[in-house]
Amino acid sequence: MAKTILITGGPSGIGRAVTEAVLAEGWTAIAVDVSQATLDRCREELSAAGDRLVVRPLNVTDDAAVTALVDALEAEGHALDGVVNSAGIAKEIDAFNTSTDLFRTILDVNVVGGFAVARAAARHMMARKAGAIVNIASVSGMVGSSGRVAYGASKGAVLTMTRVLAIEWAKYGIRVNTISPGPIETPMVAAMHTPESRAAYNERVPMERYGTPAEIAAAAMFLLDGAKSGYITGQNIPVDGGMTIAGVLHGNKPGAH
Ligand SMILES: NC(=O)c1ccc[n+]([C@@H]2O[C@H](COP(=O)([O-])OP(=O)(O)OC[C@H]3O[C@@H](n4cnc5c(N)ncnc54)[C@H](O)[C@@H]3O)[C@@H](O)[C@H]2O)c1
Repeated sequence: MAKTILITGGPSGIGRAVTEAVLAEGWTAIAVDVSQATLDRCREELSAAGDRLVVRPLNVTDDAAVTALVDALEAEGHALDGVVNSAGIAKEIDAFNTSTDLFRTILDVNVVGGFAVARAAARHMMARKAGAIVNIASVSGMVGSSGRVAYGASKGAVLTMTRVLAIEWAKYGIRVNTISPGPIETPMVAAMHTPESRAAYNERVPMERYGTPAEIAAAAMFLLDGAKSGYITGQNIPVDGGMTIAGVLHGNKPGAH
């Protein structure tokens, strides 16, 4: 059955790939973002989707706006079957140079914003006894990477928040899971990764490449579809080329035997 999925950060990067995958499935995508220009570009580039693509401005840190938008969508007949929380911000900066203001801002968008969206949607899903929420965390929330004290903490919090929501909302038929991407080629990464950090990632990833947004979207589509993942909740799927399960890699390089 066709579903309706709300995607925060839906017009860019990983969120954009989810939006496109949702549309390709014949479902309806509601892409929200704080950047009106990015929304406008998405609307234009995906115009073939017609009214199966809805774009709306939203700052996920504005709790009242989050609730108002979700309630308005539901009132308009967009009963939400799923949510993908992809809106996020990142900064590569060492701990001594990380101001407490920056730390709070990153937590506010990546954790509190995702929580507000999930809770607003779940209030409607619980009445229907069905729903799937997918939070985009990160390998940076699973292992300690330099330069990511606030970002890593935020993504670690997303992992734990997901487990708590999964437990509290299981009785309402709402499944809550995370995907932890490794390095993925998106506008965020283009702005943040230096040649040095790219080399450092490729050293750590057994598959020796960055992932694509479509590879994250494929995992999200699996978790959104109860026919495929109906008994999975509170789980984290790393989509990371093997990064978080890797031990010593050098012996495995071509020609090293
Ligand atoms: N790209 C990667 O390598 C990677 C790896 C792990 C996790 N992630 C996570 O994946 C998610 C998507 O990242 P991406 O790489 O596609 O980045 P992106 O910058 O392309 O997309 C993120 C979108 O979120 C929007 N956004 C930021 N703050 C917002 C707010 N307050 N309200 C609403 N929208 C807001 C931005 O405008 C942007 O369009 C993020 O949560 C990121 O932390 C990315």
